[in-house]
Amino acid sequence: MSLLNYRNNILYFEDVSLNEIADKIVTPMYIYSQSTLENNFNKINEALNKILGKEQEKLIAFSVKSNSNIAIINRLHNLGSGADVVSVGELKRSLNAGIKGNKIVFSGVGKTSEEMLFALEMDVVQFNIESISEINQLSEIASSNNKIAPIAFRINPDIVAGGHEKIATGGSNTKFGIPYSEALKAYEYAKSLPGINIVGIDIHIGSQITNLEPFSLAFQKIRDLYDKLIIGGHNIINIDLGGGIGIKYIDTDEPFLLEDYANLVNKNFGDLKCKLIFEPGRCIAASAGILLTKVIRDKNSYNNNFLVVDAAMNDFMRPALYGAKHKILSVNKDNNSDKKIDYQVVGPVCETGDVMGEIVSSRIMNSGDYIIIKDVGAYGAVMSSNYNSRPSVPEVLIKGSNFNVIRKTITTDELLAFESIPSE
Ligand code: LLP
Repeated sequence: MSLLNYRNNILYFEDVSLNEIADKIVTPMYIYSQSTLENNFNKINEALNKILGKEQEKLIAFSVKSNSNIAIINRLHNLGSGADVVSVGELKRSLNAGIKGNKIVFSGVGKTSEEMLFALEMDVVQFNIESISEINQLSEIASSNNKIAPIAFRINPDIVAGGHEKIATGGSNTKFGIPYSEALKAYEYAKSLPGINIVGIDIHIGSQITNLEPFSLAFQKIRDLYDKLIIGGHNIINIDLGGGIGIKYIDTDEPFLLEDYANLVNKNFGDLKCKLIFEPGRCIAASAGILLTKVIRDKNSYNNNFLVVDAAMNDFMRPALYGAKHKILSVNKDNNSDKKIDYQVVGPVCETGDVMGEIVSSRIMNSGDYIIIKDVGAYGAVMSSNYNSRPSVPEVLIKGSNFNVIRKTITTDELLAFESIPSE
């Protein structure tokens, strides 16, 4: 059940009136519902528990790249979540939010020596290794610091999946993972390296995947590889199945059920005595977040009805970057006219692609009205920039009728303090 509802024609998130919070803080702002975030985590946790059984050892490692605000990570930590991180920055954020190294997996194709050393010192669960040169580097860093690095190879199964070509990571034309055909050789090689302890297998084939077929193909390949590795004498104790679970952004999206995903996991890996690791980001964070923005003005040009709002592509990139579609709602539902209009919602940035989406058959909107963009809790604030010298927008966490600013606005004056003009 969504916690975004109209009450007397005013849109509320949990028990917070969006008109009131907009007036009290500032627009644009990201608003997250703690209850929605918690419900989303519990849903996937419970689906896995129900199908796999509570005795199945597992780790849900929230993919921090989807939303890295420490308050968000902390609330998930309180529910038992770990973290999937791809940089020392994300690692520090997760530690800061309370997650210990023993619940953190370190992914990413370009880990540096400094990042490797810091993660070794924090005793992460495993390094997901994506190339031979990376494992050579990790072996050197670990052995020269008297450490043993637990590793899994990320396998590229050559399976294309995901909501957009730019977020499909399992194909042979992408930079990710070790080719499936070279996996056994890679494990044999890793066995010979000092400072390396092989503990697992890892995949992540893409994001916003709404049908189970690619997961099914990938899981079968990983199970085959597991069996071969065991015959080859390797000690595989962790199987990391990555993230990728898709959600319903618009009416035509038809994502699979979490229980069906759990059944697929169970079918392929339920008989093993391994720890199963999951790295969901979007399905936990996306629907917990909205972007609240104010109408600056409307503008009609060549029969286009533009609604110019104070949020722009720098605040929320998904539509401009992937052509992603998000629902847009007016905070005031009351019908102030019989006339209905289709609006294109655009931001103030000087690019044609600065389009947030559309509101179809809307009431007439006026300057000062508020609207929201839905399902932006994942890959929203984390991907924002200061393009066009726009300040970083604040993030707010609500619970019931309470709200707290969890990231303050970063103003243009504050940003200016990082720049200087050399004397000549
Ligand atoms: N694990 C790894 C190694 C990943 O690369 C990702 C996402 C995840 C887990 C989490 O995937 P999720 O459960 O969220 O699908 N900015 C894009 C999405 C990029 C996803 C990158 N990797 C977007 O806005 O759609």
